[in-house]
Amino acid sequence: MLNQYLRAIIAFDLKKICISLVLTVALGLGQGIGLVMLVPLLTLLGLGKTGEPAGGISTAAVGIFEWVGLPFTLLSILCLYVVMVSLHAAATRYQAVLNTRITSGFTQALRNRMYRALCRADWTCFLEMKTSSVVHVMTSDLQKVGFATQQLLQLIGTVMISLVHIGVALLLSVPMTLFALVCGGIFLMILRPLNSRVGRFGHYLRDASDSLYAALTEHLGGMKVVKSLGLEPENIRRFETVTNDVTLQTVRFTAINTATRMWYQVGAATALSLFFYFAVTFGGMAATDLLIMIFLFARILPRFSTLQQHVQRIAHALPSFKGALEMEKQFQTHQEAVIPAGAKNLSLNHEICFSQVYFRYPQTNGAWTLENITCSLPAGKTTALIGPSGGGKSTLADLLLGLITPDRGSITIDGVPLQGPHIHQWRRTVGYVPQDTFLFHDTVRANLMWAMPEAEEADLWHALSQSAAEEMVKGLPDGLDTILGDRGVRLSGGERQRIALARALLRKPSCLILDEATSALDQDNQARIMDAVSRLHGRITILIIAHRQSTIQGADKMIALHNGKLLQKTRNLKSITPRLKTKGLEKAQK
Ligand SMILES: Nc1ncnc2c1ncn2[C@@H]1O[C@H](COP(=O)(O)OP(=O)(O)OP(=O)(O)O)[C@@H](O)[C@H]1O
Ligand SMILES: [Mg+2]
Repeated sequence: MLNQYLRAIIAFDLKKICISLVLTVALGLGQGIGLVMLVPLLTLLGLGKTGEPAGGISTAAVGIFEWVGLPFTLLSILCLYVVMVSLHAAATRYQAVLNTRITSGFTQALRNRMYRALCRADWTCFLEMKTSSVVHVMTSDLQKVGFATQQLLQLIGTVMISLVHIGVALLLSVPMTLFALVCGGIFLMILRPLNSRVGRFGHYLRDASDSLYAALTEHLGGMKVVKSLGLEPENIRRFETVTNDVTLQTVRFTAINTATRMWYQVGAATALSLFFYFAVTFGGMAATDLLIMIFLFARILPRFSTLQQHVQRIAHALPSFKGALEMEKQFQTHQEAVIPAGAKNLSLNHEICFSQVYFRYPQTNGAWTLENITCSLPAGKTTALIGPSGGGKSTLADLLLGLITPDRGSITIDGVPLQGPHIHQWRRTVGYVPQDTFLFHDTVRANLMWAMPEAEEADLWHALSQSAAEEMVKGLPDGLDTILGDRGVRLSGGERQRIALARALLRKPSCLILDEATSALDQDNQARIMDAVSRLHGRITILIIAHRQSTIQGADKMIALHNGKLLQKTRNLKSITPRLKTKGLEKAQK
């Protein structure tokens, strides 16, 4: 997984990454030079006179000062120090912004790529997927991937700066640097097993946070029922269990991550104390040596600890990257055929034909949801699809929309099979009002124009009048510009249905599918809609799925589904839905 992650980040923007790394080296060098400047300072303060261990560097520093033409005085050294620190600070800031560009850009690219794959995935993919999991991956998981990228850049930076520091340290004192390195290496080996535990905790935290998203989505969706049944305490209890788990996993990770730093500090202090003890006991160590020793330990050992902390943070975030990749792969394996450029919409002049169509949902154990469906929907006519609940009516509508495809048999539009790119060519001419109406948290206007961005004001009002919603919208506080609320909750069920119908009609479809689209309307409004629909008679092909007698009265043809099968005989339908008249059913079977 780490390899995949590294390849993905390298493929993202190698140029920016290289600039950032070059800056890191430059900054590291800056720090190294800062370190070296300490030596002339020490010399100037007279500290270096006893042992002169870094005499070479002092001489070089004096040489550089002479070469630049600066006097080797305390003031000039300090001025140079301020200039260098300022340059360093500016470059650090630039690098921080650049790194954010890389990390946020990488996350954004992943997010956009996933969303494109999501939008192009077929409907069956969504049937198998939890909405909350998609939200979780797109938000929390990808945010963690961004965090891991930040850690990765910092990790590379730490390695590079460490190399510079080690180089400088080697110039100061080879044995002391080696001593610090060996100590760091030993700590690294001892604390290594913690890394795999961190990776495991990353998985646990991801699962816990996925549950949190699921709980939140479900609880919000069902809040009305929860409140009306007084189930709040139960919901709160369940929610708190999930949040407890998230906290537990987060704390566990922090405990390990900080343990690393703690043990490094303890280890460094112990090693330094031992070193001091032996140096003082057995003597022979210059004051500058001791100072440099402290400095090296202070600089090099924390680097090892930082290194491991970065590694742990990346390991902790990798399960999120894995989750995101797996979801993307799932979307990609379910991609719909792309519509060819310049392809025309499918026209419907004769009929839609279902021939021996079989379909079953992936979750159903072998049983057909729709079985051997052979029927036709004549163009320009209204066909009513009736039958008891669970009979397969909405499934048939989904097949007609190309949202799902038959496992056997075929569906044709004027003889053109509804498959591959034809599905998109067909959908562009279809108006669909689903059983559960869906509206955005936006204005009426935005909700309508979403389906038809080029629609003019007059088109909107025409569609609203066709769906018997004109008066209702005029009565809203801001008319077309009234905000409908989350999922349209500020409207009644019937009002939502009328807006959804207007949206479908706005597209001037050649085929209109109404899946119980008037079920929430009173008789008056339903009659008005049916009147509008009947005015479209002859111009568009309509499939009305309904339970009510009044909805299907004007239909030219009737198809009945029961347990996924077409009912062949009127009397069979009568026994299932006795209150329905079944005029035309036999005709439909022909
Ligand atoms: N996503 C799904 N996964 C598995 N089974 C499903 C899915 N959607 C529907 N079904 C099953 O398929 C059958 C037909 O469902 P469908 O929604 O087509 O019925 P319907 O005739 O529209 O019913 P209603 O009148 O209640 O809307 C039902 O038994 C249902 O349980
Ligand atoms: Mg249905």
